[in-house]
Amino acid sequence: MQECRHVAIIMDGNGRWAKAKGLPRTAGHKAGADNVRTIAIAANDLGVKYLTLYAFSTENWKRSKDEVGYLMKLPAYLFGRYMKEFLQRGYRIRMLGELDVLPPATEKVLRDAEEESKNNTGLSLNICMNYGSQREITLAANAYAKDVAEGKAKLGIDEAGFEQYLMTKDFPPVDLLIRTSGEERISNYLLWQIAYAELEFIPEAWPDFTPDVMKRCIEEYHHRNRRFGGLTNE
Ligand code: IPE
Ligand code: IPE
Ligand code: MG
Repeated sequence: MQECRHVAIIMDGNGRWAKAKGLPRTAGHKAGADNVRTIAIAANDLGVKYLTLYAFSTENWKRSKDEVGYLMKLPAYLFGRYMKEFLQRGYRIRMLGELDVLPPATEKVLRDAEEESKNNTGLSLNICMNYGSQREITLAANAYAKDVAEGKAKLGIDEAGFEQYLMTKDFPPVDLLIRTSGEERISNYLLWQIAYAELEFIPEAWPDFTPDVMKRCIEEYHHRNRRFGGLTNE
């Protein structure tokens, strides 16, 4: 059976989930944060080694000040409530995105979670915060150009060389990308890393994405025939 080592999820639909229940959008975000713990456990139980979650995009700054402010406080809620358990379970927390422009308190919570879990070797739980794939690739290109200018790198790197400049340099390529809540677009997520990922767009909103739904997604993945441009693997 083909492995499903790296799953990436676009956790979409928190606002619509809340609206349908007559609740403020923020209630959806809170339920969504609690679901991060549930799905991390489910993914780990299903044999996933890397779980990469889109929490806040470089485009999400366009939302109201109140909503952005709430989203910036969510990491403190998530890690305050569940970090002890994540550590007990051996999860390693990693961040993707430009953290240095976040509110200082938010940045500290995120960097502390990375630091506290850095010796763990279990599930790699990667949170994308102020992440945008075009930004990531642009930063990588700039870093490479700087290395060339300073004589630290040679002109003409290949794909594997370029990957060393990406925020995902420590992770394998994405095997399965899931987007919840019915939208069928990528929204500037992991453009390089999903080059050969299987894509699943599912109707459930993120707070309704249960371990059973996760299991269904992985089963669907196992029915796919990944060819990577070749003809075998039947
Ligand atoms: C995803 O839910 C969470 C973030 C993008 C931060 P949304 O907030 O996008 O929920 P919808 O899409 O408006 O329902
Ligand atoms: C993508 O969801 C970003 C995250 C889930 C963090 P959005 O709700 O921001 O995406 P669009 O705006 O519908 O494309
Ligand atoms: Mg959305």
